[in-house]
Amino acid sequence: MAVQISPSILSADFARLAEAAAAVPNADWLHVDVMDNHFVPNLTLGLPVVESLLKATSTPLDCHLMIEDPDRWAPAYAEAGAGSVTIHVEAAKAPVRTLRQIRAAGARAGLALNPATAVEPYEDLLGEVDMLLMMTVEPGFGGQRFLDIVLPKIRRARGLIDGHGGQIWLQVDGGVSAETIERCAEAGADVFVAGSAVYGAADPARAIDELRSAAEK
Ligand code: DX5
Ligand code: ZN
Repeated sequence: MAVQISPSILSADFARLAEAAAAVPNADWLHVDVMDNHFVPNLTLGLPVVESLLKATSTPLDCHLMIEDPDRWAPAYAEAGAGSVTIHVEAAKAPVRTLRQIRAAGARAGLALNPATAVEPYEDLLGEVDMLLMMTVEPGFGGQRFLDIVLPKIRRARGLIDGHGGQIWLQVDGGVSAETIERCAEAGADVFVAGSAVYGAADPARAIDELRSAAEK
């Protein structure tokens, strides 16, 4: 599958989100980090901001829910019009039902795993997901250092996905930069979230082009 880049607006100016979206016309997605200060020790934004952002950009939104009760909230993001909604296995109490509700509302259903969470126990859920998200930092903050220890798991996830035969995307999120993206691509990832590497750059659109060509190498 072609490489996809999903810049994370967590590293953008929250008072200028429409401008942040407009600054990356070459992005495949806009990654929106929803944090509730319970599942992770940080608080960002919720459904009202996502609804406003949907009106402000035509780039599809890739909503990453780092919240304690995704079963309650995830379907509403899909119903609002998010292109993709990802829930964490560590937080979901009824992931099968929630993933099905996300799909039924017309969005792609994503399942995220923290760095210390093994992928093998979720093999039977592959038929319920359109994307697996491998966190390559502990979730909660942008600008953290990429965790190389996750690379073997990304390889194993790629093997499970290929064995399953479905069209499941493999996303990496956390510390992805021009320096680390090749390792992720080599391990089998095909969708790359980057926050500080895009919005910390003088020219965010150019940073995306550079990430894309590094991943395609
Ligand atoms: C972290 C978020 C990431 C974050 C990545 O919990 O899920 O999406 O924005 O930021 P960088 O790319 O700076 O590590
Ligand atoms: Zn994220």
